[in-house]
Amino acid sequence: MGAPKGQAEYLFNPSLLKNLEWNDVRNCVNPFITNESTGESWLIVRPLQLGDYAKGFTQLLSQLTSVGNISKPQFDSQFYAMQRSGGYYVTVIEDTRKGEIIGAATLITELKFIHDCGLRARLEDVVVNNTYRGKQLGKLIVLTVSLLAKKLGCYKMSLDCKDSLIPFYKAIGYKCEPGNCNSMVIRYEGVS
Ligand SMILES: CC(C)(COP(=O)(O)OP(=O)(O)OC[C@H]1O[C@@H](n2cnc3c(N)ncnc32)[C@H](O)[C@@H]1OP(=O)(O)O)[C@@H](O)C(=O)NCCC(=O)NCCS
Repeated sequence: MGAPKGQAEYLFNPSLLKNLEWNDVRNCVNPFITNESTGESWLIVRPLQLGDYAKGFTQLLSQLTSVGNISKPQFDSQFYAMQRSGGYYVTVIEDTRKGEIIGAATLITELKFIHDCGLRARLEDVVVNNTYRGKQLGKLIVLTVSLLAKKLGCYKMSLDCKDSLIPFYKAIGYKCEPGNCNSMVIRYEGVS
């Protein structure tokens, strides 16, 4: 099945989000999420589409960090670069009543030589629109991409977060491994 062209074009094949192993996480999925995943009509979890620029995707990201004034041509160019590269699974929640993107998370996969030429996963850019927070949507989007990483055959998935968000990720199943839970960084001046 070829991906549709135009603004409905997906960053990755949407069928990958079907039949994820939700049973594995039943204990940390409350009834709201179960209902959403089985078809609340106003909410859809899907891959990023080219048309999401007009649905407020970059405004949503600005609730996470600095985004800058990205033009539509810049957005399209980055979308296609990610699509060509492969390994970028930007996943969004749309409120279909308003045609607005209200949540997002990115799974990035990395090819390795270690672990028998394994595939490693990273979680990036998790955000839920501030007027929709506290409704389990953060949990929904993080679980979705985490289960997708498992489906793709990744041997592990990791993330960086503020100390205050450790309980949020722990509730989803992420752990701080003793002696192996530091995040280090070099920031390059002049690049936002
Ligand atoms: C972090 C964020 C994605 C959470 O989204 P949300 O939709 O409000 O979270 P949920 O409703 O799914 O919360 C799931 C659980 O985590 C808990 N939780 C949510 N945010 C939390 C926080 N900051 N600290 C501790 N627990 C938190 C909730 O109480 C809930 O617990 P429960 O299942 O026992 O009821 C959202 O607050 C956000 O977008 N923040 C700004 C961007 C950001 O910081 N992103 C993370 C970058 S690492």
